[in-house]
Order: sequence, then C-alpha cells, then structure tokens
Amino acid sequence: MQLNAITCNLITKKTDCLVLIVGNQLHDNTAGSANSDNSYASRFTSTATGDLISQLQKSGDIKKTLSSSIVINNPDGLQATRLLIFSRGEAEVLDEQMFAKLTKSIGSKLASLPIKDAVISLEDTSVHERNQIWQAQKLAQSLGEQNYSSGSLKTSNKEPLSLKKAVLAIPSKKDLQKTDQACAVGFSIAKGVNLSRYLGDLPGNICTPSYLAEEAKKIASKCPKLTCKILNEKEMMTLGMGSLLSVTAGTQQPAKMIILEYSGSKKEGNPIVLVGKGVTFDSGGISLKPGAAMDEMKYDMCGAASVLGVFSAIVDIGLSINVIGIVPAVENMPGGNAIKPGDIVKSMSGQTIEILNTDAEGRLILCDALTYAGRYKPKFVIDIATLTGACVMALGSHASGLLSNNESLVKKLETAGNFCDDRVWRLPLWGEYDKQLKSNFADMANIGGRAAGTITAACFLARFTKEYTWAHLDIAGTAWRGGDKKGSTGRPVPLLTQLLIEEEKND
Ligand code: BES
Ligand code: MN
Ligand code: ZN
Repeated sequence: MQLNAITCNLITKKTDCLVLIVGNQLHDNTAGSANSDNSYASRFTSTATGDLISQLQKSGDIKKTLSSSIVINNPDGLQATRLLIFSRGEAEVLDEQMFAKLTKSIGSKLASLPIKDAVISLEDTSVHERNQIWQAQKLAQSLGEQNYSSGSLKTSNKEPLSLKKAVLAIPSKKDLQKTDQACAVGFSIAKGVNLSRYLGDLPGNICTPSYLAEEAKKIASKCPKLTCKILNEKEMMTLGMGSLLSVTAGTQQPAKMIILEYSGSKKEGNPIVLVGKGVTFDSGGISLKPGAAMDEMKYDMCGAASVLGVFSAIVDIGLSINVIGIVPAVENMPGGNAIKPGDIVKSMSGQTIEILNTDAEGRLILCDALTYAGRYKPKFVIDIATLTGACVMALGSHASGLLSNNESLVKKLETAGNFCDDRVWRLPLWGEYDKQLKSNFADMANIGGRAAGTITAACFLARFTKEYTWAHLDIAGTAWRGGDKKGSTGRPVPLLTQLLIEEEKND
C-alpha cells in the first residue's frame, strides 16, 4: 500500500473507498459559523451524504471515541463506492499521539476492506503545532506499515493486501509537491520499519550473524552509493577486539562485524555513525538466563535491525549525507569454550574488562564497535541496543532510554523523536554511577550492581566514546512487544531516519 498526494473534488471522485475524518463540527457548521465556508465538512453538508453524516452523528452511529469508524456502502451523492468515516473524537485539535492512533486505525481498517484504491481527506483534521506536510508523512508511514505481516513463516495461505494504492486529497495545488514528497518520505520510513520488524521477528536459528551480514549486503547491492564490508573473526582478532570475541567463544555461529558506508553527499564531511547491537540470540551464556520468555532474546539484535532499517530508508529517500553503519553481530551461548564469570579480556581500546556476568554481553561487543567507529572521525555516533532489562523497568515501552555526552545531540534526538512519535527520555551519566564499575583486577567490571542498571551500562560504553560526540539509545523496552501481541515494533527507525533528514537540511 502506497500513498500519493492529489487535489480533486471528493464528491465526484471515483474510488473504491473515500475516507473522511469527522469531529463534531458538522452540526456547528451548518449553523454557519465564521469559517464554515472554507471547511471541507461544510461543503459536504450540502450533499445527501452530508445529511447522512449528521444523522449518523446524532443517532450515535458515529461515535465520539477517537478513531472509531463506520463504513457506508454506495453512499448517496458521491461517486465513491464506499464512504469510510472515522471519528476525530471530542477534541477540536488533536495531539501527536491521537493523530498516530487515528492513522494506525485508518491503515488497519483500509487493509481489512476488499478495496483496490482509496482516497483520504484529512481536511478539517488539525494537529497541535503540526502542519499538513507532517500529517502526510505520518499517514504514509502508517499505511506503509500495513505491508508487514509477522506470519512470513506460517504455511497457511496468506491473503495478500488487496489495497494497492491510496491517495491523500488536499485542498490546494500549491502544497501538492511538498505533500507528495512527505508521503514518499513516510513510505520510505515504513519500508525501513518493516525490514527492521521482519529481521527482529525472525527466529535465532534463521537470523544468525551470517544472515544479518547477507541482509546488509543485499541492501548495499541495490545502491551504488552504499558499500558493505564484513569483518570475520580473524580480522577482528587482528584488530584486537578481544572483548567482542569473548562473547562469541561459546557458540558455533561465526561472529561478523558488518560495516555499511553510505556516501550520499559529495562533500567530504565527517560522517554520522550508527552502531547497532546484533546479538542474534542472548541465552545469557554461562550466566544463563531463566527459561521464562527466553525466546524473546531473539530480539536482542533489534539495534542491528534498526540500523539496517535506517539504511534501507535513507537509500530509498536518497538522502545526501554520509552515514556509516556498524553492526557487531554475535550469538551469546554457553559451551565448553564460553567465557566464564571472572575472566578478564582486553578490548580494542586497550582497556581490560573483568567479566563478572556473561549476560552483560551487549556492552562487550559494543565497546569494540565503538572504538572502531572512532576511525571515521565521526560528526557524532549513536549506538542502538537492547541493552538492559532495567530500562524496561524504568521507562516501560513508551520511551527509549537516552544517555549522551553532548547536549546538542540530546536536543536533536528529542526533537526528532517528538516529530515522529518515537520518543526518547534522557537519563544521567554522572561520575557517581561510573564508580559502580570498579574492578579489583581489571580496568573495569562489565556490571555495576543491581542499582541503576541502564545508567551503569551506558557509563561502561562512555569509557569507549570519550573522543567523540556520542549518544546511546537503550531500546530494550521499545523494540518489541511481548505477550499476545508479541512482535517487533521497528523502533527506533523513524526516530533515526528523521534525525538524518534534519541533518541533511543543516548540512
Ligand atoms: N539483552 C539483555 C537485556 C534485556 C533483557 C533486554 C530483558 C530486554 C529484556 C542484556 O544482554 C542483558 O542480559 N542485560 C542484563 C545485564 C545485567 C546482567 C547487568 C540485564 O538487563 O539483566
Ligand atoms: Mn544478556
Ligand atoms: Zn543481550
């Protein structure tokens, strides 16, 4: 399902399904309030359908709950075969979360109908401090996300989506190009989200480090500006990545360091580097995890999946900036050769680490990837990791944890997160927390005790990012859902892609 912007007359437009959003304004406008003449809804009231809408509101068939909907077949006075009406609820102006709820409902409702095309009007729907361009991007993303289904490995017959194309009808030609562009961006983000979800939902026996490497190569093969390089264990050994290699010691699966280099800009400028944790299964290693919900540790590569999703999106958009993606990919398993609690390893940075818990493995692979990132003299580095269960306790599934050594990068991430409803919340990186990492035998321990687990994990990483501007996103609570709705969310692909779009503007 794809979205484009057009201008058209909704009353005479032929379509399988016309989508309208109505608030309570229809009654009001018939009374002839000051701006009613300009509002689309008021123009509609002069048709048979307009009367029908007010009747359905009065009778309570159109509910006052946000995003509840009703379908009317063969509506009088319209050329559309169906009229699909969504309620905007009681609020005159929506906030971003309300609008997100609305677009998600539009997407899933359209996907459930036996229609080939749809025309959507968001006229009369306003969102606090957001314009039509923003709405178009969000809507396109929501519709694009309908193209993903988590059942790719089910053998039962899957019904393909019958809706192929939707258009967003806007009132004025002058906004057409920008709105259409926003639709394209939203759709590219959705494709990135869907790729990230697909990889996340794949089981550990299929989505191995080698599989991730092949996926990265596939993305690169589609774009001449993108190259992909894979480092094997021997090459990582030569680079001195003793910390990363210690995590992969217990598994049969070879570790891979995936490096994507995107040169979208002709300028030589310092690139932005994204580093994604790619633990394709985290059993905990010798510090074995308890059995309950252990299957969810196949999602421990969602940081990596988000990096690949972002590259898919920026290639699709054709962003003119330079971005590097680094994905340390390993499987964390117990075994005769596995690292043991108490073992001490040397990282690529030269710093030594006492591994007190083999389940704190994410930081052990990230620290070497972050040292490697320094080679690019980055403008800034962001790592994305399902790093700590403590982050799920602190922020739940609503915000990703953000820890950073730079105020301006924090602002950028907060702004981009708010823009696309993929939000972050900052936690401190104070020296007091860093002290919790003290080891009697090495430069640091890999855990900092039970208290403030998300912060001490980030403090560990901060010891490897002193030379550049850096932010860490702990996505343990946001990358996937558990329970009945178990599945990857594709976060934070929207956040990161939006950040890069903004960077392109400032470049
Ligand atoms: N991948 C896990 C973090 C995780 C756990 C994310 C549960 C989402 C849900 C990570 O490798 C891990 O095991 N972290 C430990 C750290 C601890 C040993 C200091 C944790 O959070 O328990
Ligand atoms: Mn772990
Ligand atoms: Zn892990």
